[in-house]
Amino acid sequence: MDAETTGAGYGDSPGVDGLLAMCDLVSPLAIRVAATLRLPDLLGSGCTEIADLARKSGTEAGALLFLMRYLVGKGLFTEPAAGHFELTSTGRALTDDHPSRLRASLDLNGTGGRFDLAYTGLLDTIRTGRAAYPQVFGRSLWDDLAASPYLSSSFDSMMTTMAAHWAPDVVTRHRWDDVRHVADVGGGAGDLLIELLTAHPEMRGTLTELPATAAKARDALARAGLRDRCEVVAGSFFDSVPKGADVYVLAHVLHNWPDPEALEILRRCAEAAGPRGRLLIVDRLCGDGTVSYPDAAVNLHMLVVFGSKERTLAQFTELVQAAGLRIGTVEHTPSGSAHLSCLPAEAPSGAASRP
Ligand SMILES: C[S@@+](CC[C@H](N)C(=O)[O-])C[C@H]1O[C@@H](n2cnc3c(N)ncnc32)[C@H](O)[C@@H]1O
Repeated sequence: MDAETTGAGYGDSPGVDGLLAMCDLVSPLAIRVAATLRLPDLLGSGCTEIADLARKSGTEAGALLFLMRYLVGKGLFTEPAAGHFELTSTGRALTDDHPSRLRASLDLNGTGGRFDLAYTGLLDTIRTGRAAYPQVFGRSLWDDLAASPYLSSSFDSMMTTMAAHWAPDVVTRHRWDDVRHVADVGGGAGDLLIELLTAHPEMRGTLTELPATAAKARDALARAGLRDRCEVVAGSFFDSVPKGADVYVLAHVLHNWPDPEALEILRRCAEAAGPRGRLLIVDRLCGDGTVSYPDAAVNLHMLVVFGSKERTLAQFTELVQAAGLRIGTVEHTPSGSAHLSCLPAEAPSGAASRP
């Protein structure tokens, strides 16, 4: 129950108001339902009367009226006449074309919405240490994405939006001039590879991905005019990683996996790289000891969705060594991702400055 709204009496002890605001589950869900049903878009397009809104959103008019009036109370809509609603500036931020892209990330049928709903399994996760997502939805995120094109597109476009922040750092902060062939392992829809191959016209690329995302990467690389310089391999990086690249990039992949699986991925990449190849891990690096709030929030997210974690440098070092590699250089970047350049354990140390 939204205790703040109903005025349930919890006294006026210091901190109670703040806690009540933080505990409220109703507003986050009501707002997500409005975003999922695209109610702000309908209002913005002139559909303002409740029966019309219900018809166009495929909802039950009486139930929708309760939701609309709740959200009037929360400042998203106004009700200038009974059963007629209008958008406020807050509600307008939930329209699909708003630059914040907030609607898509709150859509309960999209990846962001499902990440949020996975937290309904948090109690079990904290008791067992297991991911909540497969318990709540009956299968892992990756199986979920494979089964639903809508979800898969929503995840890939979330990754593309994030790549705009971190991929330029990967291109500009390393020496790529002597790299003839780069492999992006778990390379998503090809965002990084497109930037790298565009910046380095002599470079060839290989991208390995699960089949649905591999198909999107193939299309994106073709649209970027890079089809001739790039091979897209559909398959699992647990089975094999194509040999022959000078540098293997693992961007935001290892943090999706607990240690045993992360080690397997690193081993497949180390095997493929051979004695002359290099790995570039792009991932968040957690501090040792007391962690910042953003690290704590991302760690909880990784645990709930994947049963995994963001790693400290010591944890990465241990994993990388177990895969027969060593970390050459570590670079922190403004985008928040760290770059860990890894090379075979026995390689000469002079090679460490390369990607
Ligand atoms: C968090 S995303 C990162 C994508 C991209 N590297 C980036 O940083 O934007 C992890 C990627 O790993 C891919 N992936 C998951 N399991 C995989 C597997 N078994 N084999 C290959 N790719 C996999 C997913 O499809 C997803 O695109």
